[in-house]
Amino acid sequence: MSTITLHQAVERLKKADIVALPTETVFGLGGNAWSDTAVAAIYAAKNRPDFNPLIVHFAEIQTLKSEVEWNAHAEKLSLKFWPGPLSLVLKRKASSRISLLVSAGLDTVAVRIPSHETARALISACGFPLAAPSANKSGRISPTTAAHVESEFEGSIPVIEGEKCRVGLESTVVDVSSGTPVLLRPGAITLEGLESALGVSVLVAGSGAVINAPGMLKSHYAPSLPVRLHAKTVAANEALLAFGNNAPAGAAKTLNLSEQGDVVEAAANLFAFMRELDSARYKTIAVMPIPEHGVGIAINDRLRRAAADKN
Ligand code: TXA
Ligand code: MG
Repeated sequence: MSTITLHQAVERLKKADIVALPTETVFGLGGNAWSDTAVAAIYAAKNRPDFNPLIVHFAEIQTLKSEVEWNAHAEKLSLKFWPGPLSLVLKRKASSRISLLVSAGLDTVAVRIPSHETARALISACGFPLAAPSANKSGRISPTTAAHVESEFEGSIPVIEGEKCRVGLESTVVDVSSGTPVLLRPGAITLEGLESALGVSVLVAGSGAVINAPGMLKSHYAPSLPVRLHAKTVAANEALLAFGNNAPAGAAKTLNLSEQGDVVEAAANLFAFMRELDSARYKTIAVMPIPEHGVGIAINDRLRRAAADKN
């Protein structure tokens, strides 16, 4: 494993190199957000289409506020949910030092303060914010362990180890850059949680007339095998991603996201289990229904993308 210490990571980041770092959501592929060179290296490593903007991670709020146009919605959400798995899309300040490449042509930037100890220690030690998309090749499942990052990049990206990715799903992304907040990506912080913190209703991207989120391609988070959703029965050549205590018998292999039927536990296991079942030994990954409440909404969002036609 090409793992490195925090100190070695800081040295690399100061030279505009990139490293993989753990956060409470998933592993990120981090680089100096002020450096065009570092941000370009992130896009290159991911094979990411360059219209897909990146999230910038800060250790504390003062530096963050010097980069974006702060407002009342941002204030309320930050008080309630930071540090934690929430990214806010805000207008860039004219004086912002964040690389324009991070915003991919938009006049906004997505920012968050992670709660993960190692991530925050790393950002503090660097003295600059870190642009960090999930540490996977574009279109693939986000990594939740250092070993996933290793296999994703075949050891070419150094990885910092740290406490586990407690949440297991990418952050909730909410656009608060204009008057009406818009939920761009569901996550552990739910629509209800956002609305109760804000005291106003939040629109959901992709529903009705509302804009789509940049970079939220329909086919995303994709394993190599076809994914069959809402499975109630299973064939002998299928792998089963089960949920709850009534999993059908007979699959070639079964992994249960949560026997207790707990959506939070299921979210933490989702990406690791999908990777484990994504093997040529099986024909399909069959997935049992997941309840559409709490973080179950975000799990179903990722599962629909995993099942979407890849063309
Ligand atoms: O949990 C996470 O958010 C992880 C960890 C590493 O922090 N990062 C992550 O980054 O999931 P990424 O690049 O895989 O997803 C970022 C998504 C983009 O696909 C896009 O939908 C949205 O955030 N985004 C970023 N900047 C935006 C902007 N300026 N306007 C609208 N959406 C933006
Ligand atoms: Mg991603």
